[in-house]
Amino acid sequence: MNRPAKISDKTWWIGVNDRTTDLFEALWPLPNGISYNSYLLDDDKVAVIDGVKSDFYPHYIENIKRIIGSGKTVDYMIVNHVEPDHSGAVEMMLQAFPDMTVVGNSKTIQYLSQFYGDIPKSLEVKDGDTLDLGSHKLTFALIPMVHWPETMVTYDNNTGCLFSCDAFGSFGALDGGLFDDQLDLESYRGETYRYFSNIVGKYSTFVEKALAKIQDLGIELTMVCPSHGPVYRKNPAYIVDFYRDMACQRTDPAALVVYGSMYGNTARLAEAVAKGLREGGLLDVVVRNSSKTETSELVRDAWRCRGLILVGCSYNGGVFPKIAHFMGTLEGKKMANRFIGVCGSYTWSKGAAMKPMRVFADQPCWTKVGPEIEVLSRPSESDLDQGSELGRNMAHMILSSNGCSSQS
Ligand SMILES: Cc1cc2nc3c(=O)[nH]c(=O)nc-3n(C[C@H](O)[C@H](O)[C@H](O)COP(=O)(O)O)c2cc1C
Ligand SMILES: [Fe+2]
Ligand SMILES: [Fe+2]
Repeated sequence: MNRPAKISDKTWWIGVNDRTTDLFEALWPLPNGISYNSYLLDDDKVAVIDGVKSDFYPHYIENIKRIIGSGKTVDYMIVNHVEPDHSGAVEMMLQAFPDMTVVGNSKTIQYLSQFYGDIPKSLEVKDGDTLDLGSHKLTFALIPMVHWPETMVTYDNNTGCLFSCDAFGSFGALDGGLFDDQLDLESYRGETYRYFSNIVGKYSTFVEKALAKIQDLGIELTMVCPSHGPVYRKNPAYIVDFYRDMACQRTDPAALVVYGSMYGNTARLAEAVAKGLREGGLLDVVVRNSSKTETSELVRDAWRCRGLILVGCSYNGGVFPKIAHFMGTLEGKKMANRFIGVCGSYTWSKGAAMKPMRVFADQPCWTKVGPEIEVLSRPSESDLDQGSELGRNMAHMILSSNGCSSQS
């Protein structure tokens, strides 16, 4: 996808695919790229909804000109979210269309001026305010903290399109199609999970509030138009339900075993735990070496799985750094309703690995499953038996819980 596509009455997708950026937010790998979806309403007044990252401005303005030609101007730029992957081109847009009015709530306008200086013409909107473009009437709904304080969504009352910005978004560029009925949604599922759990997951309670608010608008949702990933017209409920499930911490009956081991001894314990999980009747068992699997993938799997087992060797007086990093990344995610087990190893300083893992697992968001196993250098037969016992216990807990929770 690189040319504008008409998606509804007077409504165009004018986004771009980014297949060059290595790390989104300089943190999260983009193996399949990402799209910055922007939309244009070519009504009596012309409005663009959300923008693109500044690097892509030349392509973006070309898309705009393709639709409105050189005789028309952009009257409004609606900024649902100020993060620069969407607002980066605001300055250049203001240069191209000096009479353009930037539309946002009070926080939007404040943040935009912090990044880009004075915004000459702005229109401040509040929750429920509307904007008439001619035959299209837009309504704004504020959904704070999904995932910045100023975030809002824009709804077109005429077409039923919801322009939801990061909400309902996904990693993964648009491979040849734009809509859910043109793409293999299954191939985006993992990337939607990874996007949600790493970018938005921490704010799950706010996502739930946002979902309730959108429902309260009483609108007929014909199309969900996020700012990243597929646009949903065949089945908008697919992505709304998917986000609701992730936000309310609905998990799969599955376990993730993440281990850190330099010379394979501690890894043996992880294998024993995995064997026990299977013996306990669990079919969905994921074992990952923390040195080989990138952290955002581990976070995604941890978000999906009802059980997590950390297995770490000691390293310089603490736990293996990759496990420490993973725990640190999960720390702020406000995960709930999951089971955890920990085991580790040491050669000379008993407790070096176990202590930080224990502190992590003792947080109220986890339900701890035993036994805890601490191995001296190389696991004995009895250690391995205990590892399998932990796996079986975890499988039992996972399978006897329905894994459905809502934080709100
Ligand atoms: C660089 C390095 C640092 C280590 N630091 C500790 C430590 O602080 N305390 C300890 O008991 N063992 C320490 N160990 C030993 C390991 O925790 C572990 O027992 C050993 O690597 C064998 O386990 P593995 O095969 O799973 O890597 C260290 C090992 C290495 C290579
Ligand atoms: Fe964002
Ligand atoms: Fe974004």
